[in-house]
Amino acid sequence: MQIYLDTANINEIREAASWGILSGVTTNPTLVAREKGADFKSVISEIAELVDGPISAEAVSLDGDGMVKEGLEFATWHPNVIVKVPSTTEGLKAVYQLARKGIRTNVTLIFNASQALMAARAGAFIVSPFVGRVDDTGVDGMQLIREISQIYKNDSEIKTKIISASIRHPRHIIDSALAGADIATCPFKVLQMSMRHPLTDRGIEQFLADWKARG
Ligand code: E4P
Repeated sequence: MQIYLDTANINEIREAASWGILSGVTTNPTLVAREKGADFKSVISEIAELVDGPISAEAVSLDGDGMVKEGLEFATWHPNVIVKVPSTTEGLKAVYQLARKGIRTNVTLIFNASQALMAARAGAFIVSPFVGRVDDTGVDGMQLIREISQIYKNDSEIKTKIISASIRHPRHIIDSALAGADIATCPFKVLQMSMRHPLTDRGIEQFLADWKARG
């Protein structure tokens, strides 16, 4: 399973890229808005310079034609740009039109397996089921990844990748990999948390103490 970073913050992306673990980046309008005053095209172009993999840029139009128009523009920014569209019937129209022009899409805000099946059938490159937000409703979000993974495996025509999104903690990353996700897109904080363990810290302290005390 690949690891993407779910952020529009250039410093976070630069740091995680230096760890050698990043295969791509996802952004959304909320994440881009957090980078106060940043121009969208400049942010996406800068990310594409730092990470050699798919970079999702989200359309904000609600109608298919508008999404296609935005997507066609995003695609001129960098060959790695993936056009993110919402999981609606208008989003499906955009996926279908953009796929016919050779432009890759990421269908976002997926909350049930039938949305993921429809997105794949329309030609989506990636789907983004929101595990954490499903958990918030009291339903097991990881079950969504298991179901989509099985449905895609059952249909040899489907090549769409599954991004486990709305990741909240390191256990989500492990469970996504076990459930069959192709990618987990993670906030920077969760990536940092996933590398921390008190026994690692204690072990380092002990090794250093023993090293200093050697005869
Ligand atoms: C995915 O592409 C989304 O940007 C993201 O995972 C949303 O997560 P949230 O529920 O933490 O906002």
